[in-house]
Amino acid sequence: SAAVKDGFDSFMDKEIHDQPKAVADTLLGRTDATGALVLDELRIPESTLRSIDKIIVIACGTAAYSGHVAKYAIEHWCRIPVEVELAHEFRYRDPILTARTLVVAISQSGETMDTLMAVRHAREQGASVLAIVNTNGSTIPRESDAVLYTHAGPEVAVASTKAFLAQITACYLLGLYLAQLRGTKFADELREILHELQALPDKIQHVLDGEAAVREVAQAMKDEPSFLFLGRHVGYPVALEGALKLKEIAYIHAEGFAAGELKHGPIALVDEGQPVFVIAPSPRGRDQLHHKVVSNIQEVRARGARTLVIAEEGDEAVAPYADIVFRVPQTPTLLSPLVAVVPLQIFASELAKAKGLDVDQPRNLAKSVTVE
Ligand code: AGP
Repeated sequence: SAAVKDGFDSFMDKEIHDQPKAVADTLLGRTDATGALVLDELRIPESTLRSIDKIIVIACGTAAYSGHVAKYAIEHWCRIPVEVELAHEFRYRDPILTARTLVVAISQSGETMDTLMAVRHAREQGASVLAIVNTNGSTIPRESDAVLYTHAGPEVAVASTKAFLAQITACYLLGLYLAQLRGTKFADELREILHELQALPDKIQHVLDGEAAVREVAQAMKDEPSFLFLGRHVGYPVALEGALKLKEIAYIHAEGFAAGELKHGPIALVDEGQPVFVIAPSPRGRDQLHHKVVSNIQEVRARGARTLVIAEEGDEAVAPYADIVFRVPQTPTLLSPLVAVVPLQIFASELAKAKGLDVDQPRNLAKSVTVE
């Protein structure tokens, strides 16, 4: 009904606007008076968490992309190898699991059958399972060793938005907690990252305040038959998520690629007028990442692509090669998916609306997939 949509045209739009709160609520109450992280809900013994030698994230769809973001953050902060796998692939390939494996199952609904079957399999093989779930009292946390709840609130639209941001946030908390426990980061470094993380709700709000520009571009592009999305590092799962949103609700062919993979095949798809979204990382990072992505933008532009670039405020290096720039606030690269994905969600929602489609209930899809 209109009332629960809070005046928005769709639940998806409402939920996109709920995101600053979803992230803030997921961060709430996770530190003690000294600023140290406390994850009380995590009932897995500290000795077990100290001894784990591998993490495997299992999930489906958008939840799996949050796991993909988690891999970059957790490996960097904790120096524990992290694999990310679609739950249905994991379940049926005889994965290597021991008592020192931590399996992290991520699910908005907590009812996804593919993920539940993978959880059962992991526990039967002796691994500990931590569920990152949004829905209280659902099946996956009940069948896991522990649960870290995301506090996004109920998500109604089939296309996941605020749950995704809350999942990424919970994964950061897990990574920082493990780093604290295992001593792979100094306390002041951890506090600094947490401090940056706490600034994210305001930054997301800032992106939302600029949504009109994104919507205008989406309306103008409503008849495009295909979109490509490119990103590197954490921008890669953001690209995959941007493409999934367009497929799901706007029924447009869309593909996400790791930008470095372009020259290994996908660049053959690019010809005159092909729209290509590119997620540019922070130019303030100490690595080559930004420079490499700018080269990728040049490469597709040189073949006639129309480039839509998600870039930090103040990043002028992308401007000469971008047909359109969507700005996001300056954010450390590892945390940047929380802002970078927002324009892509808005774009998909507006484009689906412009095509006259049911944004909240796309054809052929259910909110939670309770069959294998
Ligand atoms: C996201 O927009 C999708 N509707 C879908 O990929 C979803 O994320 C996936 O089915 C997993 O659902 P879950 O988080 O409830 O387990």
